[in-house]
Amino acid sequence: MGRIKKIFLDFLLAGVIFLLVISMFLLSSCKHQPPVYPLTDDTGNENPWDTTGGTNNCYPNTVYFEQQILPMIVSNCAMSGCHNTIDHEDGIILNSYSSIMSDGEISSGNPGDSKLYEVITETNPDDIMPPAPHPPLTSTQINLIYQWIQQGAQNNSCENTCDTSNVTYSGIITSIMQNSCTGCHSGSTPDGQIDLTTYSGVAATALNGTLYGSVNHATSYSAMPKGGNKLSTCQLDQIRIWVNAGAQNN
Ligand code: HEC
Repeated sequence: MGRIKKIFLDFLLAGVIFLLVISMFLLSSCKHQPPVYPLTDDTGNENPWDTTGGTNNCYPNTVYFEQQILPMIVSNCAMSGCHNTIDHEDGIILNSYSSIMSDGEISSGNPGDSKLYEVITETNPDDIMPPAPHPPLTSTQINLIYQWIQQGAQNNSCENTCDTSNVTYSGIITSIMQNSCTGCHSGSTPDGQIDLTTYSGVAATALNGTLYGSVNHATSYSAMPKGGNKLSTCQLDQIRIWVNAGAQNN
């Protein structure tokens, strides 16, 4: 009898463990998380924070704060009325590495424990950041922030070799706008009444001189991106080349 009871208990235990394993598997597969890229350079060496990037090229799977994260956060969170130094909504300022780390409550390596990641992925329309009428971040932008925190939320920087040979609106100008400008210059009430999400909006500023004047911080123009770092020399060259060639929709 004792033996049968023991076999029965063993079966029960095995059953419980089986159910636990299955439910853990199901739970983990339900969590929606972007893939985490390996922290290696092009040759497979683990050297994620080397900003010289070997041949002066940035590691493709490493997210760089200065070029990819800061401009996006300034444009989408530090616009007028929000988290800039003047308005600091809720006492929160998001315009530099140190303010983003502290006010964004970033937990290095743990996107899920970071307030900034939480609010941009919030499903409740009343709580999501940026709030309406500002458009939410795109999944590409959300993934970049996820990767950056996952990779240690470093204050890192890297610029690829500048390519000014073939500057087109679709290939280069739109990505500069999306990275540094459209958070403020989009939606139903864009900053300065200027919408930079469409070709016609960008072309209008290009042709009246305000685009290059403002990004080049020329006197008598409002310096752009407002409250953020000046665009890189490469980006300024690319914008100048595109404007001088007639700001075409190419
Ligand atoms: C944080 C918000 C913000 C960001 C980011 C931003 N802008 Fe602006 N922009 C404004 C505001 C606000 C104005 C209205 C003028 C002012 O308040 O300075 C403006 C005005 C402008 C003007 C008119 C300037 C003038 O002198 O007439 C241009 C052109 C412009 N922005 C282009 C850009 C470009 C290009 C980028 C990206 C490289 C950019 N902005 C990024 C907020 C922003």
